[in-house]
Amino acid sequence: MSTTDQRRTGDTLDVDRTDLAYRTWLKEAVRKVQADANRSADTHLLRFPLPEDWGIDLYLKDESTHPTGSLKHRLARSLFLYGLCNGWIRPGRPVIEASSGSTAVSEAYFAQLIGVPFIAVMPRTTSAEKCRLIEFHGGRCHFVDDPRTMYEESARLAAETGGHYMDQFTYAERATDWRGNNNIAESIFRQLRLERFPEPAWIVATAGTGGTSATLARYVHYMQYDTRICVADPDNSCFFAGWVTGDPDVSCDRGSRIEGIGRPRMEPSFLPGAIDRMMRVPDAAAVAAVRALEHVIGRKAGGSTGTGLWSALRIVAEMRAEGRQGSVVTLLCDPGDRYLDKYYSDAWLAGQGLDITPYAAAIDTFLAGGAWPG
Ligand SMILES: Cc1ncc(COP(=O)(O)O)c(C=O)c1O
Repeated sequence: MSTTDQRRTGDTLDVDRTDLAYRTWLKEAVRKVQADANRSADTHLLRFPLPEDWGIDLYLKDESTHPTGSLKHRLARSLFLYGLCNGWIRPGRPVIEASSGSTAVSEAYFAQLIGVPFIAVMPRTTSAEKCRLIEFHGGRCHFVDDPRTMYEESARLAAETGGHYMDQFTYAERATDWRGNNNIAESIFRQLRLERFPEPAWIVATAGTGGTSATLARYVHYMQYDTRICVADPDNSCFFAGWVTGDPDVSCDRGSRIEGIGRPRMEPSFLPGAIDRMMRVPDAAAVAAVRALEHVIGRKAGGSTGTGLWSALRIVAEMRAEGRQGSVVTLLCDPGDRYLDKYYSDAWLAGQGLDITPYAAAIDTFLAGGAWPG
């Protein structure tokens, strides 16, 4: 600590480093982020139509309608407010994030809103459309070949530039106001109020940071609901194995093909103890599900939506087989036009060795007849 600004008054040592110009900037930056929230409407809870007489209702919380097109708009807002109010984000200093895309798009938007530079550290395999969106919002993309090095590269860049490494994987769960304040969970329950089954039997989430599933689970427990939380995990991710074995050190070597979700390590924001159930969903099943979504509701979505939807459909089939009624909610995380060259490209599927045919047939059979085949 510098002692040049230290004063002594009698026995009392006194250091006052109030920076009035910074405090004025900070107030203005927080106002701009809050004003963005104030201008925004809530996202829709869409119905995935199922036959009325099944007595089971399925919904998708459509997070693609946020200003930056994904559920990460909520997280980016929370992380910016957290970083600003903690004094971590400073005028003129870059904000840096390790992101597989969507978080970076949303953070680039908020960085531009408050006038600080933004650098996204991301896997080279991230879709071209996401990079374009980051640059559209004034951000810069910095690629790494090995997704496992994203964290250290982000920390290194922050040290080199004097910037702030946002670190969504650590701070997602604590930056979000999980008891309420119109978080995703509170919004879902409010929108279900007039439905025939207002307290869902299950909410299905997917995990990138794990922050969304943590918020949903904490809120349900805090509000003393009976709703159970399922996390659907893609291929090449270790959340499922880590949750099942209880080993926090599991890792896997290949990166996830489902952008935004599936991680090579158990992320600090993933709270295994708060989750009731996990499903391992094959990537081909996720793609089949997201393509089925387009046939049913006329909307394209990303691969994480397909992963969650496959899991939700399996749960609906299970409830039906057991003669149970109720509602199930999953998330429409981001729009499909970001992935036309991936999940909507047959050439990409072939290149990845993914055959969606049996999964698409299973969904068709189930939706037509009400029983899961096999
Ligand atoms: C498209 C998409 N879906 C789902 C998720 C999962 O959200 P969370 O990070 O809260 O676990 C992410 C996270 O990056 C994402 O980008």
